[in-house]
Amino acid sequence: MKTLVQHGTIVTSARTGSGDILIVDERIQEIGTSLPVSTADRILDARGMLILPGGIDVHTHLDMPFGGTTSSDDFETGTKAAAFGGTTTLIDFAIQPKGTRMRDALDTWWKKAEGKASIDYGLHMVVTDLGEAGLEDMDDMVREGVASFKLFMAYPGVLMVDDATIFKSLSRTARNGALVCMHAENGGVIDVIVQRTLAEGKRAPVYHALTRPARAEAEAVHRAIALAEISGAPVYIVHLSSEDALNEVREARDRGVPAFAETCPQYLLLSMEELTRPGFEGAKYVFTPPLREKYHLDKLWHGLREDHLQVVSTDHCPFCFKDQKTLGIDDFTKIPNGGPGVENRLQLIHHHGVNQGRISLNRFVELVATTPAKLFGLYPRKGEIAPGSDADLVVWDPNADHLISAATHHMRVDYSMFEGFRVKGNARTVLSRGEVIVEDGRFLGRTGRGRYLRREARGGAWN
Ligand code: URP
Ligand code: ZN
Ligand code: ZN
Repeated sequence: MKTLVQHGTIVTSARTGSGDILIVDERIQEIGTSLPVSTADRILDARGMLILPGGIDVHTHLDMPFGGTTSSDDFETGTKAAAFGGTTTLIDFAIQPKGTRMRDALDTWWKKAEGKASIDYGLHMVVTDLGEAGLEDMDDMVREGVASFKLFMAYPGVLMVDDATIFKSLSRTARNGALVCMHAENGGVIDVIVQRTLAEGKRAPVYHALTRPARAEAEAVHRAIALAEISGAPVYIVHLSSEDALNEVREARDRGVPAFAETCPQYLLLSMEELTRPGFEGAKYVFTPPLREKYHLDKLWHGLREDHLQVVSTDHCPFCFKDQKTLGIDDFTKIPNGGPGVENRLQLIHHHGVNQGRISLNRFVELVATTPAKLFGLYPRKGEIAPGSDADLVVWDPNADHLISAATHHMRVDYSMFEGFRVKGNARTVLSRGEVIVEDGRFLGRTGRGRYLRREARGGAWN
């Protein structure tokens, strides 16, 4: 099957230029001007459109048991929603229950995705317990293409691990080339503040934010980076939310330390006031780390522009307001932590980043596709428009007017964190490995067509 994408403006992290793209079966074969149409089976006219590499969201939680319930999107609904928004690859988190082997968790997550995903996906492994064989298990995971691990410095008694576990895991990745992703918040300190707050009878959603200070994030980021330095491994900070934490990453990078970090649209566009909405509405914005005071937002945008932050992911972890978020109606600590967003990442970052002049188009592509591919062992197969790369492409209409709303989104969740946000720019046609899976708001893909991606362990290094 030969597809010719004609007359578009091709935007990569490095270049912008007009050209045609010839796709043969699943891959890009040639890029040029006026490529011959006669041999193409299908022609996509992209006049007036941008052609971007498919988005890569390296932080999602599909079908994840958490907080006494399970995230409401599974691999079927979550990957489909991602595709509508121009994301053609995601990396989800398999979780090792304490006392079990990582291979069992990997099997569990493979089963969750098998026959359901409509875009390609990889998996990180959440390490909760090294036990006897945990370090060998980490090598085993790397052989299976799980080239990254997540460790939690928060959620004591559930997911949190101690510094020794973090240090041992980092030291292992210094040898096997995987990348450690850190949920960096000082869980012990936060727990003390939470218990004090509950004892004072404070139970509303806003206390979720008030009990998790930005300094507790900064302290953990500092510690994570220091442990990585001692072990000789790179480190990647997930869902960074505050100026305080950002300063720690910037300081380390200025010293040449291989520290990387992502932030998410919610931390760039929303602030703590959302948690004070009337009634129980604030619960829609309960996720961890919490939303911060307004002044942090500009600092994070600046961090993206200056490469103190390298990636925008979503931390898509949806729970319905009705029946799920309400588990915490009388106690903020029982509100399942997480929010939806996998469908809106490109729309929001394009509109509030590129259209508002905060970042260039090329930087936008770098943040949502190219650097994620590089850091997580998928480059140049994904995240690039070049001969040999998978034909994961987004025909992006930079002038499309789109109103974000739960009434029209495809995520299986009954609210949107960005309800009523109007954006200019949206995916018009989405190709995954040469196949059109979304066109003009219609899903043309097939449930189960998405493939597991075996990723290379390069320790976040690509130069
Ligand atoms: O609140 C959040 N972020 N839920 C998902 C789990 C995590 O910590 O990433
Ligand atoms: Zn986390
Ligand atoms: Zn997460």
